[in-house]
Amino acid sequence: MLKRRRIIILKGDITDEVFIESIFEKYQFDSVIHLAAESHVDRSITSPLVFAKTNILGTMILLNAFRASWKDDWSDKLFYHVSTDEVYGTLGEEGLFTESTSYNPNSPYSASKASSDHFVRSYGETYRLPYVISNCSNNYGANQFPEKLIPLCINNIIENKKLPVYGDGKYTRDWLYVEDHADAIDLIFHKGKPKETYNIGGFNEWQNIDLIQLLCSQMDIKLGRSKGTSNQLISFVKNRPGHDLRYAIDASKIKNELGWEPSVTFEQGLSKTIDWYLENEIWMNHVVSGDYQTYYKKQYIK
Ligand code: TYD
Repeated sequence: MLKRRRIIILKGDITDEVFIESIFEKYQFDSVIHLAAESHVDRSITSPLVFAKTNILGTMILLNAFRASWKDDWSDKLFYHVSTDEVYGTLGEEGLFTESTSYNPNSPYSASKASSDHFVRSYGETYRLPYVISNCSNNYGANQFPEKLIPLCINNIIENKKLPVYGDGKYTRDWLYVEDHADAIDLIFHKGKPKETYNIGGFNEWQNIDLIQLLCSQMDIKLGRSKGTSNQLISFVKNRPGHDLRYAIDASKIKNELGWEPSVTFEQGLSKTIDWYLENEIWMNHVVSGDYQTYYKKQYIK
């Protein structure tokens, strides 16, 4: 256990019922902000059960512990469930996900998050447990594990390795800088209305190929390489099964009701992110050793 002023860090597994119950008994938390999840779509395709266990069962264990600790005395309590826009499935070339878009998940990952959202809502209806849910678009920023597109490509550019672009690269995501997501969570936690859902997005859609080209040009400058060097690493590879074509969030509810907007442009956020990875090579080298190598070979080399 690490103790720093008012923060206590306890490391455990959310599917470990005994551990979770014991910490709820010990600390009598007022509220929970639940962000623990298996989150990488490609891993959910190879190991779907792990996602069901962590994302569905883990959420239920937290809900049960929260419920048991307050015995239906809910004054000033809140269970805040952090989720993803992927629960809505895929968009065509037009339109945006709103809070009333039907759930239509396409990957085992998004199905497990959709299920956990439903459980949270059902505890609200059945047991009157006070909850709020947010569904956010793709995040990027410091400390992101290099299984995700942006840190994976940053690492590969540094190492002069191929940049694997799935399919034709025209798949589109709405990217949000992680600190803007953290600000949105803080705002929803303090000012959001119970039983509501808030969509969080970057107003920032990019086709994967355009994003990777922008990343390559920023990396060339930062690494002192001549223009166009990193672009040569781009390699089109076999598509992801069930690959959602496009995600894009209508974030007008959180903007109009709570006054939230992203604080950085994509170019600024990406630049800060690259700087963080260049300054934290020890972190990167540590996380890409061991298990990551096995994952990388299975996913990209076979
Ligand atoms: P990812 O970071 O895995 O997030 P998500 O699947 O949750 O949106 O992928 C972002 C996009 O980049 C997605 O369309 C899949 C694509 N992608 C690649 O083209 N190559 C890769 O190696 C990875 C990891 C993702």
